[in-house]
Amino acid sequence: MEILIRDTPEASAQVAADVVSKIIRERANLVLGLATGGTPLRMYQELIRMHQAGKLSFQNCTTFNLDEYVGLPPEDERSYNHYMRSNLFDRVDLDPAQTHLPDGDAPDLREACRDYEQKIKDAGGIDLQVLGIGANGHIGFNEPTGSLASRTWVKILSEQTIRDNAVHFDDPQEVPRHVVTMGISTIMEARHCLLLANGAKKADAVRRMIEGSVSASCPASILQMHPRVTVVLDEESAYLLVAKEHYKWIERNKLDWQRH
Ligand code: F6R
Repeated sequence: MEILIRDTPEASAQVAADVVSKIIRERANLVLGLATGGTPLRMYQELIRMHQAGKLSFQNCTTFNLDEYVGLPPEDERSYNHYMRSNLFDRVDLDPAQTHLPDGDAPDLREACRDYEQKIKDAGGIDLQVLGIGANGHIGFNEPTGSLASRTWVKILSEQTIRDNAVHFDDPQEVPRHVVTMGISTIMEARHCLLLANGAKKADAVRRMIEGSVSASCPASILQMHPRVTVVLDEESAYLLVAKEHYKWIERNKLDWQRH
């Protein structure tokens, strides 16, 4: 794992935006995996700023989001489809036909899951997958103790995640209990994973992901088995890391070509 620690969430968003923009510029027909939630918002703002300054084009990108709530139609303001359109898609030059989210409103959810996996495969697989992390260690909505070999499927949110996500709903009772999410195997097949975390609330999950044993009790820990992961943290989310100074030392001593 490449671990990059910055003083503030703003500085870590800048690093994350640099990683994403570099690969967009380098690779034609890039397939980008995207996340929702609070964490990537600053990074999306920075990518929009680069686009508006004429420095970045998404024209040749295809995107696949990690997850979507079951039962919320795309036009529902609380859906991840709506989130993506208002926080990125409608503000850059992405071709809407090249953007994909799991269909949480499909009449046959199982078929929709299989279809999503097939679409990712047909696109040639994901080049760079952006991830956040839940306070309980989930990635996508693969909650603790779920299979580490899962593929895109309908999952039940934990009570903790429902509480965490309730801030985006008027009434906590309205948070859907079910989601369609890429599975752990789907995420692990991405060629490069970029995980972002900010704030002390994520510190324990971050510690378990990086320094704990690989275990379904912290699904993000499976990333230790991935050949190419970049983790971008702010100081608050990194404060429980035992080897924090070592990660900083490694970053300072990288050869030029080893830098993201
Ligand atoms: C969102 C997703 C989730 C979030 C995680 C953190 O698409 O897959 O795993 O990344 O729940 O959410 P925030 O960023 O709101 O703390």
